[in-house]
Amino acid sequence: MLEQLPKNVRVVEVGPRDGLQNEEKHVATADKVKLIEALAAAGLKSIEITSFVSPKWIPQLADGLDVARAVHLPGDVNVSALVPNLKGYESAKEAGLKQIALFMSASESHSKKNINKSIPEALQTLGEVAHQAKLDGKTIRCYISVVFECPYEGAVDPRQVVRIVKELVAMGVDEISLGDTIGAATPNQVIALLKLLKAEVPLNKLALHFHDTRGTALANVLAGLDAGVTIFDSSLGGLGGCPYAPGAAGNLATEDLVYMLHGLGIKTGIDLEKLVDAGHLAEQILGKELPGRYLKACLAGRAKQAQKLVKPAAQVTGA
Ligand code: HMG
Ligand code: MG
Repeated sequence: MLEQLPKNVRVVEVGPRDGLQNEEKHVATADKVKLIEALAAAGLKSIEITSFVSPKWIPQLADGLDVARAVHLPGDVNVSALVPNLKGYESAKEAGLKQIALFMSASESHSKKNINKSIPEALQTLGEVAHQAKLDGKTIRCYISVVFECPYEGAVDPRQVVRIVKELVAMGVDEISLGDTIGAATPNQVIALLKLLKAEVPLNKLALHFHDTRGTALANVLAGLDAGVTIFDSSLGGLGGCPYAPGAAGNLATEDLVYMLHGLGIKTGIDLEKLVDAGHLAEQILGKELPGRYLKACLAGRAKQAQKLVKPAAQVTGA
């Protein structure tokens, strides 16, 4: 029996950003808006709706400002967007967002590929944005990518992650999300990194962001829960990846995460049936099946049920 699990977990939905940024098929602004509103209707209270990065680098999210302006969400939903620099910050501010999500990497090679900056350059830029964002009264989340394994350099030294986390905390970042960008971590690595970090920063500042490339994401969540983490990122239907990290498959699917959390008796405030409705909508918009396992199982169950309801009618008419 697992003991000492938290009673509540905050799920941060990153599908509209981390998910869609990796989709080749262009998604219309109106469909993005529908999807975000369906996520909020399912009870998600933290949603990353888009990014304000260079449209040359991520063409799919070039309509970030239009999405942010068009979306109607309840006042208690914490809406944020990914921001790489002051230019992106100005767009987030124009969109009226109260939270921004910065990002950087724990390895030099991934940093260069993803944002065309070294780690010191990235820290300098993030420091400038954080300074301005604090003056404007925004809350700041920051991702650190490739905290366990880099697709270019291999294993990442956890002490490097600790150094970066301390710098981010010093610049006023409120929440730091630790990214297993290529979904390579296993639970003991999660436990080891959190043990080092716990000695340096309050645990409630940390979130975990798993991609599920090798099927270890839920096991890693369990390791994180056991260590006391209560914030987890996930993506509707398991959409996602990082275009600048070869091999990065979809994020952990939100429905799989929520199903496991509820099974463990942990509250999330999310309605799984409505989440499946949102997943179904995403499949219709993208014209393909999504990898999330709970979504697949639930939609297959619904299809079977619908068939059962249709059959007797057909028999009555002699068809
Ligand atoms: P750069 O080319 O070095 O930038 O890109 P620059 O400052 O030299 O500017 C070049 C051009 O981009 C200029 O335009 C700028 O105005 C424009 P031009 O004069 O050529 O017409 N520009 C911008 N346009 C719109 N919004 C902006 C912006 N900034 C500059 N904010 C830059 C540097 C950071 C912009 C670029 O590398 C970039 O946008 N990278 C984003 C890459 C990205 O989005 N990757 C995926 C997200 S990270 C991820 O998925 C991991 C995560 O999920 C966690 C995990 O899984 O680990 C978060
Ligand atoms: Mg990611």
